[in-house]
Amino acid sequence: GAPVEVNISKVEPGQLIRVEWRGKPVWVVRRTEKVLDQLPSLNDQLRDPNSEEDQQPDYAKNIGRSIKPEFLIAVGICTHLGCSPTYLPDTFSDHVEVKGVDSGFFCPCHGSTFDMAGRVFQGVPAPLNLVIPPHHYIDEGLVRIG
Ligand code: FES
Repeated sequence: GAPVEVNISKVEPGQLIRVEWRGKPVWVVRRTEKVLDQLPSLNDQLRDPNSEEDQQPDYAKNIGRSIKPEFLIAVGICTHLGCSPTYLPDTFSDHVEVKGVDSGFFCPCHGSTFDMAGRVFQGVPAPLNLVIPPHHYIDEGLVRIG
C-alpha cells in the first residue's frame, strides 16, 4: 500500500483525526500537556509500559511512543480481536481503576483499555500495546504514514 500524507496543522489539542492506511484506521491524536504529564504515573498499571514487545519503530521507543511528544500516531485496531477502540477524551476514568486519568481508549468489544500512548492496561483481554505504524514528518504540519 501507498504511504498516506496527513496534514496535522489544524488538529486541536485533545482532538483525534482518523485516516486510512493499507485498509487500516490510523489515528493522529494531539495530546495535551496534562495528558503527557500523566503518562509516567500510569506505568504500574500497564502490561508493557516500556513497549518492549516491539509494537513500534525504534524512533518511537519512548514513553509517548512517538516522534513528537504532542502527537500520538497509532493503528486504531485492538490487539485482542481487531475491533476499533473508542477514544474517550473526557470519560476514560469510568473504565479504569486508575484515578485522575481523563483520556484514553476503550474497546467496546471486550473491554480492553489503552492509555494515551496506546499502552494496554493490565487485566484486560488485549495482549499487546497498540501498533505504531512507520511514519515520519515531512515538515512541521505534515506527516507521512507508511
Ligand atoms: Fe478489543 Fe476484544 S477486540 S477487547
